[in-house]
Amino acid sequence: MSKVLITSALPYINGVPHLGHMVGCLLPSDIYARYMRMMGNEVLYIAGTDEHGTTSEVGALKEGMGVQEYCDMYHQRHVQTYKDFNLSFDCFGRTSSEQNKEITYHIFEQLDKNGFIEERTIKQVYSIDDAMFLADRYIIGTCPHCGYDKARGDQCENCTKVLEPTELINPKSSVSGSTNLEVRETKHLFLNLPKLEAKLGEWIKTKEPFWPDVAYTIAQKWLKEGLQSRCITRDLKWGFPVNKPGYEDKVFYVWFDAPIGYIGITKQWADEKPTERNWKDWWLNAQNVRHVEFMGKDNVPYHSITFPATLLGTGENWTQVDYLKGMSYLTYEGGKFSKSEKRGVFAEDAVKEFPADYWRYWLMSNAPEGSDSSFSFDLFAGVVNKDLNGVLGNFVSRVLKMTSSKIGNFVPEGGEDTQVEKELIATLQTRVNDYLKYMNEMEFRKAMNELRAIWVEGNNYISVTEPWTVIKTDEARAAAILRNCINLIRIFAILSAPVMPTVSASMLERLGLKAADMPCLQDFDVNKEIKAIKEGTPFEVGEMLFERISPERVEELKQKFGSNK
Ligand code: 2FM
Ligand code: ZN
Repeated sequence: MSKVLITSALPYINGVPHLGHMVGCLLPSDIYARYMRMMGNEVLYIAGTDEHGTTSEVGALKEGMGVQEYCDMYHQRHVQTYKDFNLSFDCFGRTSSEQNKEITYHIFEQLDKNGFIEERTIKQVYSIDDAMFLADRYIIGTCPHCGYDKARGDQCENCTKVLEPTELINPKSSVSGSTNLEVRETKHLFLNLPKLEAKLGEWIKTKEPFWPDVAYTIAQKWLKEGLQSRCITRDLKWGFPVNKPGYEDKVFYVWFDAPIGYIGITKQWADEKPTERNWKDWWLNAQNVRHVEFMGKDNVPYHSITFPATLLGTGENWTQVDYLKGMSYLTYEGGKFSKSEKRGVFAEDAVKEFPADYWRYWLMSNAPEGSDSSFSFDLFAGVVNKDLNGVLGNFVSRVLKMTSSKIGNFVPEGGEDTQVEKELIATLQTRVNDYLKYMNEMEFRKAMNELRAIWVEGNNYISVTEPWTVIKTDEARAAAILRNCINLIRIFAILSAPVMPTVSASMLERLGLKAADMPCLQDFDVNKEIKAIKEGTPFEVGEMLFERISPERVEELKQKFGSNK
């Protein structure tokens, strides 16, 4: 058994996650965690809310709340949403925790002691009426290049040109609208990345065979262009106060303590059961830990460059990322998800419309892996109706209903297998091996394709063998066919468990089984598993596993969630 540490990028606390966030890191990491547990590994699966930064301060201000109160409220909403989506975290913590503060301080002290922290004086825009320094994106004004009047201080959304806030014409604070701004000098701490570049380059080279192209290419590009020192402090109130004399009135930059949050959250988890758990077993001088990180592609530079360099600079033996799964983006009905324009499906609303497993399956079978993918209600309904209801749901209901009406509510007894079953087992074994291979490689679209193909084999088998006809002349043979079909239901439930845990449990329950009874997926042997349920075992037919989505319902959903079309 090996130890697998799985982390999902920590979602920002401000606002609630939409389907793009779910598919970008939270859901694939959950499916991988469930799968790795079923492969018999010791898994620690960690995530939490990323709580610091200007966005939290501004978010709280806009909602008329204190920042702590705001974060407490949104943290709970995130927790509830992920529970509804059935995410199986071992701990879902917070970057603002005491544990994270302690580890952030320790890492900073090590970096400082080792000479990787520099002090610099920089110029920043100060808003006199807001009594705060403004992050570049909180200054808006007219773009000097295209005249767009809502350009942000970091970039113009209209012409995409990268800007300095001082270039904006008629700049104002987007927090209050005030134009009472001035440029002030302020002292900050920088992480000296150029000094760490050689060590980082060496480390990245050791990772080459293990990283998917996209992450490795991004890391190489950054190294090639030469690393710049990065400011790791901010003039804000909300955050961890900097533990260095002369800097007590500043806080660490959100991107400094956020990835350290993986470690802080592990300590939160360990502190719940201090006699049984030790965070260092996973992070510091840890043996045999494989660390797999899931994130959107925009996060890749932080996790392949900045965070590894931070850990290397401590001179201590921290667990580094072994495999980095970077996802592309999901678009909504051909455009962007937009909270302000009320376009897109937010995760907490999604589960009010359909059970989480519908979303989990759709999102993973359309995961934006190689390139972006697009959500639309037409596509969603198509997959639910065809793959879930038409293939899987229909097979389960047909088999159990037919057995119940023709033979009885128990696994039929007697009868022999023929060449058809030999072929079925061989085909299924190949497909199962491919499915497991893709899951190992985190190729989720391909894995879901294979899973669907496995369900299709069940339908093919029943169509070819026609137990409803055979039973008229050869009851024993029909019994053998239907027994195989019932065993297929169990096999489908086991293989579907990482992506559709509730549906899987419901399939098993009909057969008197529990999720805990599932076998290890390692060396999954179809020949053995197809005989697993004993003859005479009672079963229940149960309800249809899935509901069909009508064209009228699709139209209603489009109206409700704001479609382009
Ligand atoms: O992009 C984001 O949503 C960030 N909050 C991710 C942080 S990941 C980790 F570093 F904490
Ligand atoms: Zn512009």
